[in-house]
Amino acid sequence: MMNLEDFLMKNIGKLPAPVVAWVEKRMKKIPSIREKMDREYDGLMAGLEPSLKPYKDRYPVFAKLPARGRDREEILHEMESLRAHEESQWKDGFVSGAVYHGDESHIEFLNQIYALNSQSNPLHADVWPSTTKFEAEIVSMTANMLNGEGACGTVSSGGTESIMLAMKTYRDWARDTKGITRPEMIAPVTAHAAFDKASQYFRIKMVKVPVDADSRADVNAVRRAVNRNTVVIVGSAPSFPHGAIDPIQGMSELARTRNIGFHTDACLGGFVLPWAERLGYNVPPFDFRLPGVTSISVDTHKYGYAAKGTSVILYRSKELRHYQYYITSEWPPAACTSPPRLRAAAPAR
Ligand SMILES: Cc1ncc(COP(=O)(O)O)c(C=O)c1O
Repeated sequence: MMNLEDFLMKNIGKLPAPVVAWVEKRMKKIPSIREKMDREYDGLMAGLEPSLKPYKDRYPVFAKLPARGRDREEILHEMESLRAHEESQWKDGFVSGAVYHGDESHIEFLNQIYALNSQSNPLHADVWPSTTKFEAEIVSMTANMLNGEGACGTVSSGGTESIMLAMKTYRDWARDTKGITRPEMIAPVTAHAAFDKASQYFRIKMVKVPVDADSRADVNAVRRAVNRNTVVIVGSAPSFPHGAIDPIQGMSELARTRNIGFHTDACLGGFVLPWAERLGYNVPPFDFRLPGVTSISVDTHKYGYAAKGTSVILYRSKELRHYQYYITSEWPPAACTSPPRLRAAAPAR
């Protein structure tokens, strides 16, 4: 007869994720199970090592700064060799979700743009006002493409950051305007992991809802999940794992009637769906034409064909965007930050 340990080890893959996490946490406290799991983990990692660390014995490894600086030619040669190896893995396609364009002349153009701007620092808009101009234009063009009359936003470093910024925005908006101190977000189980990350970082309770046979969120389940702590409902257009567009119309309308935020995650589809619609495809509504949609994440570094990593986060109104910003006014001014001890320690000239 199978004992409990063996039964759990054998069936863990069939249990729902939160149950697995709970069982795992408890099982790891049993020494025999811990050892068994560690052995399995080590075996798994050993199997993965050749594909994750293929360069281990082929190139020099530096764990410390080398005593003598390396020759630039040598570094370039090594990087060229790595690039050639890795390029062979995606040049023929088949890595959707990683490379979105890949055309040689387009890459060359992106590289030129990168080189021209490699020293610009958006934090210092007084020195590089071009970054402000570029950001304003990128946001405006993207908002326009997604029918956001009066919409605004910012450029971020990628889809995950756009999503996290939006979730932080809803948390702070709801605290300020509704006094919600135990915020919750509702997301379909297919929503991107970035929402779970935001939930953990910003202490917003995640409430997951199931999807139907077509991998689209169940609107009735969303309705049942709404409560007075709900600050935002999330839908994907489309979701990464299944490529399915959630019923954004029904979900966002539900949010609107309850004065809750609604975020469309169009990180993947934002630069495809508007054009597919113009080509005559039947694209369900997902953008600012739906009055309940209050923010959209859309990735320039995916089908916007920009280099990694940029994304756009759009808000329906400036009032909402205001909650995205972090402001502090207590950082001591430069005159006080230069510590006298450090100045005294500097070598005399
Ligand atoms: C639907 C969706 N949302 C969010 C993300 C996260 O974007 P990033 O990988 O740029 O952080 C992705 C990435 O593939 C995505 O497909």
